[in-house]
Amino acid sequence: MSKPVSICIIGSGYVGLVAAVCFAEMGHRVICVDNDEARVKTLREGGVPIYEEHLPELLAKHRGRAVEFTTELAAAVDESEAIFIAVGTPQGTSGAADLSYVEAVVAQIARSIKAYKVIVEKSTVPVYTNEWICRVLNRHGVNSQLYDVVSNPEFLREGSAIIDFLHPNRIVVGAGNERSANLLRRIYEPLTEGSYYAQPGALAGACGIGATAPLLVTSAQSAELIKHASNAFLALKISFINAVANLAEAVDADIEDIAAGMGLDSRIGPKFLRAGLGYGGSCFPKDVAAFHWVAQKCGVDFQLLEEIRRINETQKEVFFNKVLSALWTLRGKRLAALGLAYKGDTDDVRESPAIDIIRKLLSAGATVTAYDPAAMGRAQEVLPAAENLAYASDIYEASKDADAVLILTDWKEFATIDLVRLIKAVRFPIVIDGRNLYQPQQMLDHGFTYVSVGRPTHYHAQEGKPSKLAV
Ligand code: NAD
Ligand code: UGA
Repeated sequence: MSKPVSICIIGSGYVGLVAAVCFAEMGHRVICVDNDEARVKTLREGGVPIYEEHLPELLAKHRGRAVEFTTELAAAVDESEAIFIAVGTPQGTSGAADLSYVEAVVAQIARSIKAYKVIVEKSTVPVYTNEWICRVLNRHGVNSQLYDVVSNPEFLREGSAIIDFLHPNRIVVGAGNERSANLLRRIYEPLTEGSYYAQPGALAGACGIGATAPLLVTSAQSAELIKHASNAFLALKISFINAVANLAEAVDADIEDIAAGMGLDSRIGPKFLRAGLGYGGSCFPKDVAAFHWVAQKCGVDFQLLEEIRRINETQKEVFFNKVLSALWTLRGKRLAALGLAYKGDTDDVRESPAIDIIRKLLSAGATVTAYDPAAMGRAQEVLPAAENLAYASDIYEASKDADAVLILTDWKEFATIDLVRLIKAVRFPIVIDGRNLYQPQQMLDHGFTYVSVGRPTHYHAQEGKPSKLAV
């Protein structure tokens, strides 16, 4: 391997923290900066602030050795060759990304630069952010010889972030010159040349020696657009399959068969065709909105992006109406909500469809008992327990005396429920599954009426099929 690179990462959230331990795994030396003093304290003292597979062991391995945590940005910048910006870029009021955190960080970097640095945009940002960063540095009087700004978008998913980072499909580097592109090539060399995979204890995944990720060098604008376009395209696949699911329901077809049949076409592929409650999370919703804003600003009519968003919002209504159809009225009904996170394998509840649906059920007069394997703490910050909302410690406690059990997040634990135990816990055997985790026959065999997405509802014999009611 070439000489290790000294790296500063600003922001120690889902992206910054994962990048920090992964760069350390790859042999580099990392200083991770955050202005959240409590988070830095937790990290220094051995805590793990987010739920992410492999993160605890990699933090234990590298903390205090190849990875350090600090609130002192200037000193960290001074000691590093590459400065990665990994702070949040949330949605602003107009739909555009709020870049104020990025700007604040760039201003701080500007005050700290004394020698040549490569500044890397890792946060997801709209096109031309690279240019804006240069402009802010210039305004602060930084000599343009002292820096290059490179775009290096991140494609990891929460829940599998570490493996995604170390086994990427591709690495995109938007650089204006060879000097800065070469530093990024050096940073990623353990992955692109494969030396990481030969290392004892390397985490296994899709890449390996002889099967490494390509590193694509583009202009900064292209790299910025690759990120927004990739997220928007994945969101498009989800909205598309959800719209087809609604059609499938109308004609008694089965969306799981349809997705399988479509996915077998190698041009379409089977991934991201899981129908359900629609996409959530801190990225797809805001990135689709920000991408649309960019298109509008550039005078490009990209109405498709608005339609992706609209279908996604509608999907939550569709599910709510399924609950109404199954239960008739909601006032006073007791519902078990399985899932709070926006998807399985994470504790993140940002833009979680599960939280939106629970809010709607509560407003309609239902009483909800919720359970999630990892997101209970974060959920209670946005949705505190109340007279009509309780949190349970497992699936069966949540389902006790429930009029219906709702599956809202695709945790593996929810796909392997002990149905014999569940039916003893509930008041009425009705499961409304927003994630299609079960074969309908399996639920019927266990005595449940089973409502899912894009498939005919399966009524248990005891209940019988109702006539079509307009809700
Ligand atoms: P996050 O909210 O989890 O973390 C951001 C961190 O930055 C926080 O710890 C915050 O305290 C810190 N911060 C904010 N301002 C700071 C400052 N001035 N100085 C130092 N630290 C500061 O965010 P995240 O989920 O890691 O996302 C970061 C960026 O990466 C976003 O642009 C997001 O769109 C993008 N992204 C996220 C994911 C994901 O799965 N979460 C994947 C790819 C890309
Ligand atoms: C997504 C992208 O997959 C990452 O490549 C990207 O880096 C990241 O956004 C980002 O920019 O932040 P993430 O949000 O962690 O990653 O999770 P996904 O697995 O993509 O799921 C997003 C949402 O779509 C979840 O709510 C999930 O339940 C939903 N989804 C996903 C579906 O409804 N159906 C599917 O088939 C797939």
